[in-house]
Amino acid sequence: MSTPSILILPGDGIGPEVMAEVVKVIDWFGEKRDLKFDVSHDLVGGAAYDKHGTPLADETMEKAQKADAVLLGAVGGPKYDVLDFSVKPERGLLRLRKEMDLFSNLRPAQCFDALADFSSLKKDVVAGLDIMIVRELTSGIYFGEPRGIIKEGNERVGINTQRYTESEIARVARSAFELARKRGNKVCSMEKANVMESGILWRDVVTEIHQAEYADVELSHMYADAGAMQLCRWPKQFDVIVTDNLFGDLLSDAAAMLTGSLGMLPSASLGAPMDNGRPKALYEPVHGSAPDIAGQGKANPIACILSFAMALRYSFDLGDDATRLEKAVEKVLADGVRTADLLGEDGATPVSTSEMGDKIIEALTASL
Ligand code: NAI
Ligand code: MG
Repeated sequence: MSTPSILILPGDGIGPEVMAEVVKVIDWFGEKRDLKFDVSHDLVGGAAYDKHGTPLADETMEKAQKADAVLLGAVGGPKYDVLDFSVKPERGLLRLRKEMDLFSNLRPAQCFDALADFSSLKKDVVAGLDIMIVRELTSGIYFGEPRGIIKEGNERVGINTQRYTESEIARVARSAFELARKRGNKVCSMEKANVMESGILWRDVVTEIHQAEYADVELSHMYADAGAMQLCRWPKQFDVIVTDNLFGDLLSDAAAMLTGSLGMLPSASLGAPMDNGRPKALYEPVHGSAPDIAGQGKANPIACILSFAMALRYSFDLGDDATRLEKAVEKVLADGVRTADLLGEDGATPVSTSEMGDKIIEALTASL
């Protein structure tokens, strides 16, 4: 197989700062573990708008379609708030997701022991937590037609439509079952089959796929509102949660806060397999471009670095190296190394973005 390719799109604000640390990590794996990647860099978001007048040039879109993995930093910033909706930085990201047809959004909620005090929940509720929320990303109520604001008599009516086809449900269900097999072998599917027809179909299709193809995986169903309660009450009961676009948006944001800082949260968005068998894939931290701290060396690079760990695992089948990287992050946190976002009011000195990257590299080297 040819050298796997990675397209790096740092974007705006802290995007380029955190991505610089990922590049150090990629170089480390190249030198010390002999993992060679064909890495190229391009622009997205405001940075692309400044150069090309569009948040994602066609040429960049083409490169993304061909890359084995796309790593994205973050897009947006106050400078671009005045732009027309059609060229806003976010449109670049949305175009990538849409044209690559990235239907399966993986959002892990993992609690590093060293940060368990950081959660708003009790330590024993979150310590050791490791769950994965799989959110359907390209259909459902954010895309369904009809939509709009119409006039009905004397009032305005806002309309959105929840719509799922069988095949859309089936493909995201498969991706959740596949993931579960590589983890704790448990899937909990969440919808509102009690009040929504799309929920009834969701439950039926997930059950059919399970019986026909994944009977070895443990499957349960939960109404999404009850699921939200269970997520706060005892999140460790879950392994993989699969749910639709809207519920997944809410549940994954809630789950994120189980573990503390936005600066810690990675994500992956996967599509259909390409000719070489690898899925189309985009990896990015959950956080945005953080204009309030951009350019100050304060950003936590861990979310972006853990996103690269997900790329190692899900695009390149390098689970052991992904674990090595995650363990290095864990080690650095256990040693008390903290960027500013991970510090309370106790007056300890934070490290900079690049110092955090260097510490992670040191821990990687120590792991050899
Ligand atoms: P944000 O995630 O950029 O920042 C929220 C808060 O968290 C800020 O106080 C920020 O300093 C902090 N923060 C975020 N990431 C951090 C990190 N790695 N280390 C330390 N602190 C971190 O969200 P916000 O402020 O709502 O949006 C700022 C810009 O980012 C906007 O233009 C927004 O549209 C864009 N955005 C882009 C996203 C993306 O590219 N996927 C996602 C969310 C927002
Ligand atoms: Mg959200």
